Parts: sequence; C-alpha cells; structure tokens
Amino acid sequence: MGARTDPRFAESIRHFNHAAALIPTACQTFSKSRIQYPAGVTPDFLSHGQGGRVWDVDGNEYVDMVMGLLANVLGYCDPGVNAAISEQLTRGTSFSLATTLEAEVAERIVEIIPCAEMVRFGKNGTDGTSAAVRISRAATGRNHVLALGYHGWQDWYVGATVRSKGVPPAVRALTQKVPYNDLAAIEQAYVAFDGDLACIILEPMSAVEPAPGYLEGLRDFATKTGTILVFDETITGFRFSLGGAQEYFGVTPDLCVLGKGMANGMPLSAIAGRSDLMQEFNEIFFSGTFGGEALSLAAAKAVIDTFRREPVIEALWRKGAFLKREIGNIIDENGMAEGITLAGKEPWLVPVYGAVGCSSPEEVKTFMVKNMVESGVLFGSSLNICYAHTDGELQHVIDAFAKAVSTLRDEVQRPGLATRLNCELIQPVFSVR
Ligand SMILES: Cc1ncc(COP(=O)(O)O)c(C=O)c1O
Repeated sequence: MGARTDPRFAESIRHFNHAAALIPTACQTFSKSRIQYPAGVTPDFLSHGQGGRVWDVDGNEYVDMVMGLLANVLGYCDPGVNAAISEQLTRGTSFSLATTLEAEVAERIVEIIPCAEMVRFGKNGTDGTSAAVRISRAATGRNHVLALGYHGWQDWYVGATVRSKGVPPAVRALTQKVPYNDLAAIEQAYVAFDGDLACIILEPMSAVEPAPGYLEGLRDFATKTGTILVFDETITGFRFSLGGAQEYFGVTPDLCVLGKGMANGMPLSAIAGRSDLMQEFNEIFFSGTFGGEALSLAAAKAVIDTFRREPVIEALWRKGAFLKREIGNIIDENGMAEGITLAGKEPWLVPVYGAVGCSSPEEVKTFMVKNMVESGVLFGSSLNICYAHTDGELQHVIDAFAKAVSTLRDEVQRPGLATRLNCELIQPVFSVR
C-alpha cells in the first residue's frame, strides 16, 4: 500500500497495521480511509479537534478543511453545543418513551425550512434519503426513482452506481441516475418508465450551478406528473441558508433531507416535508432504537438557536468568498487553470482537477492533498469551511495552496509525477456527482 516510512506518521502507521487486521479498510467511512488519503504521506487517525483545527495521533496539527465531512459546521467543541450535550448527558441519552426534545427540534425545523410541515429524525443522511424514497413510493404507488447526486449507502441508490456489488438486479433496475441540468433527460425517463416514477431526488446544487429555470422546471414537472420532488439537503442545509438551498434558490420541494451539520457532528438526520406525505410514516416502516436519541437532538436545538442568534450563514459565505478569491488568483497567477478550478458556492467550494501538462487529474489531486498536509492543512475533496475558522487559519490554507501550486506548476512539466509522489494515487470511491 505505498511507501510506509515517513516518521511524521509513525503512530498512524503503527495503529493502521493494528486496526486493519480488525476493521475492514481500518475505517468506518470510505471518504476518511486510505482510498482518499494516500498511505504513508498523510495521517490515518486523528486524536482531537478544537474550532477549525485537528491533531493527528502523532501530534501533528492541521487547519481542518474537511471538518468531519461537513458535519462540524460551527467547529469542533463549539461551547454552546457542548454545553447542551453535557446538560442532556446528566439526564440520560436514549429513553424508553419519546422525549419532548423531539417536538422542540421539529418545531424549529418547521419554522426555518420552507417545505417542512412535519419532521421525522434518523441518524445518517442515508436514513433520510431512503425514507424519502419509501414515502414517495407509498404515496404514489409507483416504483422508479431518478437520482441526481450522492445519496448514501442503501440498495436503492448504490445499485445505480458502479459500487453495486451485493444489490439484486431487480432493485438496481428501479433507480436511474440522470445528468444534472437536463430536464429533457427527466422527461425521457418518465416516458420510458411509462409514468411509473415515484420521485426525483437530487442535491439541489453540488459543484455545478443550476441552469436558469432548471430547479423551477423540475418543480413544474413534478407537480404536473404527480411525481414527488425530494431535495437532498444533507450538505446544503445549514450551509447555503438557514432554510437550505430551497430557501436560497426559492424552489420548494415536496420533501427534503437534512443531516451533516444539523447537530454539529452529532449523529442526526431528518426528513421533512408536506404533511400529507409525512403522514405516510403512520403506515410505512421507519423505526429505530436510536431515532430519538437525546444528545444529538439537544445538540441540534443548540445548533439551530446558534444559527438564529449569530451570523453563521453570512460568515460561511464571507469566509468562502475570501478563499475563492485568493485561491482563484493563485491558480491564475500560476497558469494552472487547466489543472485546478474551484467550483461550487462559497460555503462549499469544490476543487475540480483536470489533466495539465504531463499530469493526469489523479496525479494533480494526489499532489495537492499530499502537499497541503505537508503544510499543515487537512485537505479532502472540497473546502469545508466552518464558522470557527479564523481569518488566520484561512490565510494559512491560502499560503499552503500557493506553495503547493507553484511547485505543481514545475512538476507537471515532465512526465512521471505519480512515481515522484512516492505514494499511491487517490482513486474515487465512485463518481458520486
Ligand atoms: C448529499 C448527501 N446525501 C446523503 C449522504 C449520506 O449521508 P450519510 O453518510 O450521513 O448516510 C451524504 C453523505 O455524504 C451526502 O453528501
């Protein structure tokens, strides 16, 4: 698995060798594993975080641009969230009946999210997207699903990707991925399914901007055909706007899914939407031991109150604009626009890698991740800004980026970057978006 010699990561490597015999991939999440972080030249394990920083098990310190895959939207150990969790901890975690916290958080979601009339909770984004698909099928009596984006690990979705091993063909046949910004593709699929289309589920926006009229067109098509429109706001919720991308773009879906940042790193997701659809929860089966787990709900309540009290959304946009401008200048000054561009909205910027000079996109990405880590920035597939990132920390990211890109500019002039990197190249889990 590549070079394993860098003394900076000695403890990571030692622990990896122990964990890999006990845990397949030595990790619980593909995007946190060696598939995304090259062995031997990046850390495998973190020990703790504070604000916008993390420390690995070797004691190396980083400005974290991953933030638990966008979960820690306020930052690690946010004092208000930690206080709410600690207070709840003294009273219990998972109870024998429901708690009043559930309606307290649901009420807040109904107040802030445009489509939300009723709410149910889950633990992962996948719980929410899978519930949305089941509700859509239950309400429409139809079977097929059109998916645009990434929606988690369940059969109904991964069956439509290249990582479909273990999903029966009959299930795979029911979900089709369609390109974003292509209304004609939706209409064609609807005709091909003979109208048997339960829902369209999409990330309202990821790296690519919606074309003018696209989201509105989806809304009209769904209304006209009786198809359920589901916005997967696992990332865009609590990031683009307090009311999510649906508020930002002014298009209201029938159902939406929230997750990631809603409890600042605590495991919580939600499905929310039209009450007639949500009433299907009385009939379908969506039920789990930990659905009303109180620490995460206490955290979510504190998160929503913080977003309402403090200029969190404005800060995410402002910090993102700073990164976008400075990193964009660095790319231009180095003439590296073929190799790296920044896509996405300011609160969730996504570097897109291309072939440049003698180097492939995979070589460019691996080079960047490795070199950013070397300069003390934990760097993944997107720039995941949090409220706690200070201007100084963002300047550190910009300086690290400038250093990496100016070296990259010379490196791509000659073939063989993959060999000189002295690590394996980062491979996509699958093309998720
Ligand atoms: C848009 C989107 N939907 C769903 C999911 C799945 O969420 P989880 O990993 O919490 O199951 C993710 C996770 O990255 C996501 O980004």
